[in-house]
This record gives sequence, structure tokens and C-alpha cells, in this order.
Amino acid sequence: MALGDEWWREAVIYQIYPRSFADANGDGVGDLPGALTRIDDLADLGVDAIWFSPFMRSPQRDAGYDVADYRDIDPLFGTLVDFDAFLAAAHERGIRVIVDLVPNHSSVAHAWFQEALAAGPGSAARERYLFLDGRGSDGELPPNNWESEFGGSAWERITEPDGSAGQWYLHLFDSSQPDFNWRNPEVRAEFLDILRFWLDRGVDGFRVDVAHGLIKKEEMGDHQKPSNSGPMGSRDDLSPYRGQPEVHDIFREWHQVMAEYEGDRVLCAEAWLSTADKTALWVRRDEMHQAFNFGYLMTGWDPQALRDVITESLRAYPAVGAPATWVLSNHDVIRHATRLMLPPDQDDGIGPRSPRIPEHETGLHRARAATMLMLALPGSAYLYQGEELGLPEVVDIPDEARQDPTFARTQGRRYGRDGCRVPIPWTAGAPSAGFSETGETWLPQPEGWDVHARDVERADPGSTLNLYRRLLRERRARRLGRSVLVWIDDVGEDVLAFHNHDITVVVNFGEQPFPLPSGQVIAASGPLADAHLPTDTAVWIDSGGVPIGPETGGVPIVPSDIDDLVEKYGG
Ligand code: GLC
Repeated sequence: MALGDEWWREAVIYQIYPRSFADANGDGVGDLPGALTRIDDLADLGVDAIWFSPFMRSPQRDAGYDVADYRDIDPLFGTLVDFDAFLAAAHERGIRVIVDLVPNHSSVAHAWFQEALAAGPGSAARERYLFLDGRGSDGELPPNNWESEFGGSAWERITEPDGSAGQWYLHLFDSSQPDFNWRNPEVRAEFLDILRFWLDRGVDGFRVDVAHGLIKKEEMGDHQKPSNSGPMGSRDDLSPYRGQPEVHDIFREWHQVMAEYEGDRVLCAEAWLSTADKTALWVRRDEMHQAFNFGYLMTGWDPQALRDVITESLRAYPAVGAPATWVLSNHDVIRHATRLMLPPDQDDGIGPRSPRIPEHETGLHRARAATMLMLALPGSAYLYQGEELGLPEVVDIPDEARQDPTFARTQGRRYGRDGCRVPIPWTAGAPSAGFSETGETWLPQPEGWDVHARDVERADPGSTLNLYRRLLRERRARRLGRSVLVWIDDVGEDVLAFHNHDITVVVNFGEQPFPLPSGQVIAASGPLADAHLPTDTAVWIDSGGVPIGPETGGVPIVPSDIDDLVEKYGG
């Protein structure tokens, strides 16, 4: 059964990273027909919506985040007919589908970029991207010192049609991903049309890639990123290419297009900004509907830091009428079963030469508790394929098999994101653990990947998969996503405890076992001994059907003042 009006306020949205989900044609790269064969597994898991990472036409230099044609499916993944079939099958099961839109940059293979190269300096075709003359006597130096998120300069010099060394173009990511000029009306019009193309096909919304980066400061001078700039430079508040105020007008325009369509279509911002207060301004009532909560994702396994980020989120987003969102894993970060054992801010990935490689059993124990905490929070939650199987980050990928441009652009100094992108296991004992019948996989699966296979976990009542199934069922039945969180104080520094609607949630981060409150246990992330909650364990307890919230004397979190937020962060 699909959720009703404004479903995105409480939805659990499952990210399919199509290359690594399920492969139907045996070439080692997952595809849409493969995903279709697994849709009942997602219905069985109990998710409300699916977000597809990009499957549009692309040379795949950044795994599809380099788009050559925004209105077609890459043959690697299938055809538009395959997409329509997937969408129809999802809708039949009450599952919504949102697609990934990459508006900050295209691929160098995009027709507009090719036109721009051929058209020469000063042409209208060049105006759609960010071409500038270089510095130095001969234009031999890049126009400024901006750095690519993947390492190295953010500028690439081209050869002009007459064979001379020419202008430079900006690429905040790989050199195969030239940035669009979002001050150009033609670019704006083109993307409104692309939105309509997918909305007409029936998609339920978009995850908007690099939403923080579309507008660059007009005078493109040098900028020194602070050394602790955080993932994607999210803490770099003075950045000339992050969170510029004019970006809001773009999303206001998009909001209007979404509103022309029936059903509640959603825009979700991938905006790496430093705080929830700032990010909230992206989800005001006439802009996007949701933004990823990267502040939450970047918080380590630390009760007070988690309490702070949860409180801040539940103050900031409701202030603008938006739901908070929560996320622990995605295709850009170390899987949380591994990451939560490490200090926060793991921006480089991990690999065989990393100083510390966490042990999986302990990591999984913690990850299950973290997931129980997350899925009990009001708002919407994002899951990344494979986390429901408790997958760890894959560490031992040989250098020569690594595909993330980050690895090559930093000469292997940063491992990058391949470790969370390894094709997921479905069936124990089958070739490539059931990912592909031929056994091919675009990234190598590690030894013993089968132990996490879905069929094994489905049959094991104590598995992580069955824990997720249980939590999603309870969360939906009790409408936890639409309820109100009330902190329980006086539980000591090592414990987090709160009520949400008719459940009490307790998470123990400390060494000492914590006495369980009374009530029936709905779910626990690990074994409970003598009515105590051991370390790194979470529990949901039924509060006897009594909703605890403002009506029953609970003290909910007070939303921030929206005018304050606007005054501080502008836009
Ligand atoms: C986003 C994507 C990431 C991609 C980058 C460039 O951050 O999540 O995977 O590499 O944008 O498009």
C-alpha cells in the first residue's frame, strides 16, 4: 500500500545504484531488467520509494554522473521501454520512483559541449559552460586556483578548432564533467524541459546532484579551501561555488514545474552544507521538498554529538515546514557497518594500506544499533542498497581494479568510493553470489561475499535483513515518520533515549549494561541479557499504546525561527 499525501514526509527511500544491484544481461554491470527481477524483494523489504542513481546515456567516467543525453537510458542499463516497465511494476506495488538528475555538469560527450569546443571562444555555445582564458603570458595557467573534488585542478585546457592551445573550462569534478553556466537562460530552459520529460513518463521526483554547486560567484577569483573543509568541502562556508544565494531561484522555478503535475512529486537536494540550519533554507515551502542530512551522516558514533545533530535537525527543518531526513550510507561514503568504527570525516575511503581496518562483526553490531536509532526518528529516511544485508565496506580491491576517478586523480592517495559500490550478493553459491548469471562483476566481489546473500539472510530470523523488515513494518504501522520526538533525560552520558509516538527507544553507547525500561520489546539490534541493554545495542519498546508527545506532557523540540535562519544565511 502506497503512502498518501505528501508521502515524502515519512517515506523510507531505497537507493538503487544500478551498476551494482542486479545484472540481467550478464555483462557484469547491473541494469534495469535486472532491477525489475528483484522488485519483489524490495516490496518484501517494505520500502516506500526507490531512488535510482543515474542510468542516463553516459560514457561512465564517473559511473553515470557524467551525462551525455538526459533524455535517454544508457544501453549498459537498458532502454526507455525497460524504464517504463520498471516504473509500472513499482507503482503496481505502491512503490514510488525518483531519478537522479545531474544538473551541475554534463559529460564532455554531451552534444552541447562538443558544439562548444567546435564553436570557438566568445560563441553562444561556449556560454553554456564556464570557459575562460588562462592566466600567464600565453594563457598557459588555469584561470584560478580552484580544485576538483576528485583532486587536482578544476580547470582543463582545450585545443581550439584551429589547433592552437586555447581556453580552459571549469570542472568541479572529473575533467570529463564540464560545469554548466547556470547564469545562462538556455541552460535553465533546457533543464525545465528535462524535468518535464521525466515527469511526463511518470516519475515521482528527482534527487538533485550537487545542488549546492550550480551557481558560481560571478567574479571567479582564487579561493583557498580550508584544510578541514569536510566531505565535498561542506564546511567551506566562504566557497565561491557552494550555496551561492542565487541558487534558490533555480529551485523555486523547479518547484513550480513539479506543482503542475498530479500526485506529490518530490525534489531532494544533494546539498553538502555545514549545518541543518543552512540546509533548511533549501527546503522552504517554494523550493525543494527534502535535502539529505549530511550533518547526520558525518556524525560519528557519539551519543552527545548525535543528540545535538538530531535536535538541530528537528529544530531547523520543521521551522520551514519540511521534514528532517536521515541517512547513514550511500554510494559516496564508507558503508556505515565499517565507518562507524572509525573517527568521523572519512573522506578518502579505505583500502588495504589504510592504518585501521575495522573488524566486521563489531562494526555490524554497531551498524544495526545505528539503523534502529535512525529508523525511529521522525521524518524521511534513505537506505543504500546492501545495508539491509549488513554489508561492510570492501577494503581489499586491488589498485588495478579501482574505478573511482578519485583514485587515479590523486595517484592512489585517496582510495575513493569503490568499496561501497561492489555488486551486492543475492544467492549463496551462485556465480557472483547471484548478481550476474555469468559471474561477471565490474568490481571484484571479495571472498566469502555469500555469507551476506539475501537468500541466506531471508531464512535467518536473526539476520540484518529481517531486522530491517521488522523495523520498516513497525515504523510504517505506527507512523513514526510523522510523529514527534521527545528526549528522555537523566539516562547518563552514554545512553540516548527518546519517545516517538508509542515507542520508547534506547541506545547504549557505553560499556556498562543499561537497565531496560518496562514494556514489551518490539525489536532489539542485538541480544539482551538480564533485562539489560549491552553496549552498542538499541531497542524499541512499546509504551503500552500510549502516544507520548505534547498531549501527554512530553516536551517536544521547538522549531527554530525561520526569520532568524534567513537573516543569518540569506538567500
Ligand atoms: C555527487 C554524486 C557523486 C558524483 C558527484 C559528481 O556527489 O553523489 O557520486 O561523483 O556528485 O556528479
